[in-house]
Amino acid sequence: MHQTHNTLPELVREHSAVLLNRHLAAAIDLQAQIRHAHWNVRGPGFIGVHKLFDTVSNDVGADADRIAERCAALGSDVGGTIQTAVAQSFLVPWNQKLADVAHYGFAVSAVLAAFSQSAREAAGRSATFGDSVTADLLEDICLRTDQNLWLVEANMAPHNDKTQDEAKV
Ligand SMILES: [Fe+2]
Repeated sequence: MHQTHNTLPELVREHSAVLLNRHLAAAIDLQAQIRHAHWNVRGPGFIGVHKLFDTVSNDVGADADRIAERCAALGSDVGGTIQTAVAQSFLVPWNQKLADVAHYGFAVSAVLAAFSQSAREAAGRSATFGDSVTADLLEDICLRTDQNLWLVEANMAPHNDKTQDEAKV
Protein backbone atom coordinates (compact mmCIF):
# COMPACT_ATOMS: atom_id res chain seq x y z
CA MET A 1 0.00 0.00 0.00
CA HIS A 2 1.14 3.54 -0.73
CA GLN A 3 1.66 6.08 2.05
CA THR A 4 -1.35 8.29 2.67
CA HIS A 5 -2.73 10.66 5.28
CA ASN A 6 -6.03 8.78 5.07
CA THR A 7 -6.75 7.83 8.68
CA LEU A 8 -8.38 4.47 8.01
CA PRO A 9 -6.18 1.66 9.39
CA GLU A 10 -3.99 0.06 6.73
CA LEU A 11 -5.60 -3.34 7.23
CA VAL A 12 -9.05 -1.84 6.57
CA ARG A 13 -7.75 -0.08 3.45
CA GLU A 14 -6.23 -3.37 2.26
CA HIS A 15 -9.53 -5.21 2.73
CA SER A 16 -11.37 -2.49 0.81
CA ALA A 17 -8.78 -2.53 -1.97
CA VAL A 18 -9.30 -6.26 -2.49
CA LEU A 19 -13.06 -5.75 -2.81
CA LEU A 20 -12.66 -2.72 -5.04
CA ASN A 21 -10.16 -4.35 -7.40
CA ARG A 22 -12.40 -7.40 -7.63
CA HIS A 23 -15.38 -5.24 -8.61
CA LEU A 24 -13.29 -3.11 -10.95
CA ALA A 25 -12.37 -6.24 -12.90
CA ALA A 26 -16.03 -7.24 -13.05
CA ALA A 27 -17.14 -3.71 -14.02
CA ILE A 28 -14.66 -3.60 -16.92
CA ASP A 29 -15.93 -7.01 -18.03
CA LEU A 30 -19.56 -5.89 -17.55
CA GLN A 31 -19.09 -2.74 -19.59
CA ALA A 32 -17.48 -4.71 -22.44
CA GLN A 33 -20.24 -7.34 -22.39
CA ILE A 34 -22.97 -4.69 -22.64
CA ARG A 35 -21.00 -2.86 -25.32
CA HIS A 36 -20.83 -6.14 -27.21
CA ALA A 37 -24.62 -6.45 -26.90
CA HIS A 38 -25.01 -2.83 -28.06
CA TRP A 39 -23.08 -3.66 -31.24
CA ASN A 40 -24.53 -7.09 -32.01
CA VAL A 41 -28.21 -6.97 -31.05
CA ARG A 42 -30.63 -7.20 -34.00
CA GLY A 43 -34.35 -7.61 -34.44
CA PRO A 44 -37.68 -5.86 -33.75
CA GLY A 45 -37.26 -2.94 -31.36
CA PHE A 46 -33.58 -2.73 -32.26
CA ILE A 47 -32.99 0.99 -32.01
CA GLY A 48 -34.41 1.41 -28.50
CA VAL A 49 -32.45 -1.54 -27.14
CA HIS A 50 -29.30 -0.50 -28.99
CA LYS A 51 -29.48 2.97 -27.42
CA LEU A 52 -30.38 1.65 -23.98
CA PHE A 53 -27.37 -0.69 -23.97
CA ASP A 54 -25.23 2.33 -24.93
CA THR A 55 -26.48 4.29 -21.91
CA VAL A 56 -26.10 1.35 -19.54
CA SER A 57 -22.57 0.52 -20.69
CA ASN A 58 -21.57 4.18 -20.22
CA ASP A 59 -22.99 4.10 -16.67
CA VAL A 60 -20.98 0.98 -15.93
CA GLY A 61 -17.85 2.66 -17.29
CA ALA A 62 -18.41 5.64 -15.01
CA ASP A 63 -18.88 3.30 -12.06
CA ALA A 64 -15.68 1.46 -12.94
CA ASP A 65 -13.89 4.80 -12.73
CA ARG A 66 -15.40 5.54 -9.31
CA ILE A 67 -14.35 2.11 -8.04
CA ALA A 68 -10.81 2.54 -9.39
CA GLU A 69 -10.39 6.01 -7.91
CA ARG A 70 -11.63 4.93 -4.47
CA CYS A 71 -9.09 2.12 -4.62
CA ALA A 72 -6.29 4.57 -5.50
CA ALA A 73 -7.46 7.01 -2.83
CA LEU A 74 -7.04 4.28 -0.21
CA GLY A 75 -3.38 3.90 -1.23
CA SER A 76 -3.72 0.76 -3.32
CA ASP A 77 -2.49 -0.06 -6.78
CA VAL A 78 -5.39 -0.38 -9.22
CA GLY A 79 -5.78 -3.35 -11.56
CA GLY A 80 -7.22 -1.49 -14.52
CA THR A 81 -6.06 -3.39 -17.58
CA ILE A 82 -8.23 -5.58 -19.78
CA GLN A 83 -5.85 -8.47 -19.05
CA THR A 84 -6.42 -8.07 -15.30
CA ALA A 85 -10.16 -7.85 -15.81
CA VAL A 86 -10.18 -11.07 -17.83
CA ALA A 87 -8.15 -12.84 -15.16
CA GLN A 88 -10.13 -11.60 -12.15
CA SER A 89 -13.73 -10.96 -13.24
CA PHE A 90 -16.30 -13.10 -11.43
CA LEU A 91 -18.89 -12.72 -14.21
CA VAL A 92 -19.71 -15.70 -16.39
CA PRO A 93 -18.41 -15.42 -19.97
CA TRP A 94 -20.76 -13.93 -22.54
CA ASN A 95 -22.82 -16.43 -24.54
CA GLN A 96 -21.81 -15.85 -28.15
CA LYS A 97 -24.85 -17.61 -29.65
CA LEU A 98 -27.66 -15.19 -28.82
CA ALA A 99 -30.40 -14.90 -31.42
CA ASP A 100 -32.58 -11.83 -30.96
CA VAL A 101 -33.46 -8.78 -28.86
CA ALA A 102 -35.13 -10.89 -26.16
CA HIS A 103 -32.05 -13.08 -25.74
CA TYR A 104 -29.79 -10.04 -25.50
CA GLY A 105 -32.13 -8.43 -22.98
CA PHE A 106 -32.14 -11.57 -20.86
CA ALA A 107 -28.36 -11.91 -21.02
CA VAL A 108 -27.71 -8.27 -20.13
CA SER A 109 -30.25 -8.46 -17.29
CA ALA A 110 -28.56 -11.55 -15.88
CA VAL A 111 -25.08 -10.04 -15.90
CA LEU A 112 -26.32 -6.75 -14.37
CA ALA A 113 -28.07 -8.72 -11.62
CA ALA A 114 -24.94 -10.77 -10.86
CA PHE A 115 -22.80 -7.62 -10.61
CA SER A 116 -25.38 -5.88 -8.44
CA GLN A 117 -25.63 -8.81 -6.05
CA SER A 118 -21.88 -8.94 -5.58
CA ALA A 119 -21.63 -5.16 -5.08
CA ARG A 120 -24.41 -5.31 -2.48
CA GLU A 121 -22.65 -8.10 -0.59
CA ALA A 122 -19.32 -6.24 -0.78
CA ALA A 123 -21.00 -3.10 0.58
CA GLY A 124 -22.17 -5.10 3.58
CA ARG A 125 -18.70 -6.51 4.17
CA SER A 126 -17.07 -3.06 3.88
CA ALA A 127 -19.44 -1.66 6.50
CA THR A 128 -18.66 -4.60 8.79
CA PHE A 129 -14.88 -4.19 8.68
CA GLY A 130 -15.02 -0.42 9.15
CA ASP A 131 -14.97 1.35 5.76
CA SER A 132 -18.41 2.95 5.55
CA VAL A 133 -17.35 5.21 2.67
CA THR A 134 -16.48 2.27 0.42
CA ALA A 135 -19.72 0.66 1.57
CA ASP A 136 -21.65 3.77 0.51
CA LEU A 137 -19.92 3.81 -2.88
CA LEU A 138 -20.71 0.16 -3.52
CA GLU A 139 -24.31 0.67 -2.41
CA ASP A 140 -24.65 3.62 -4.77
CA ILE A 141 -23.25 1.53 -7.62
CA CYS A 142 -25.70 -1.21 -6.67
CA LEU A 143 -28.53 1.33 -6.77
CA ARG A 144 -27.62 2.50 -10.28
CA THR A 145 -27.11 -1.07 -11.49
CA ASP A 146 -30.54 -2.06 -10.17
CA GLN A 147 -32.04 0.98 -11.90
CA ASN A 148 -30.47 -0.05 -15.19
CA LEU A 149 -31.56 -3.64 -14.64
CA TRP A 150 -35.12 -2.36 -14.33
CA LEU A 151 -34.81 -0.33 -17.55
CA VAL A 152 -33.52 -3.33 -19.48
CA GLU A 153 -36.13 -5.73 -18.07
CA ALA A 154 -38.99 -3.26 -18.59
CA ASN A 155 -37.94 -2.98 -22.21
CA MET A 156 -38.42 -6.69 -22.79
CA ALA A 157 -41.66 -8.44 -23.77
CA PRO A 158 -44.01 -8.50 -20.74
CA HIS A 159 -45.25 -12.08 -21.24
CA ASN A 160 -44.17 -13.11 -17.73
CA ASP A 161 -46.56 -10.57 -16.13
CA LYS A 162 -49.49 -12.07 -18.02
CA THR A 163 -48.51 -15.52 -16.87
CA GLN A 164 -48.40 -14.33 -13.24
CA ASP A 165 -51.85 -12.70 -13.55
CA GLU A 166 -53.29 -15.87 -15.00
CA ALA A 167 -51.69 -17.92 -12.24
CA LYS A 168 -53.56 -15.87 -9.60
CA VAL A 169 -57.00 -16.63 -11.09
FE1 LIG B 1 -22.42 2.99 -30.28
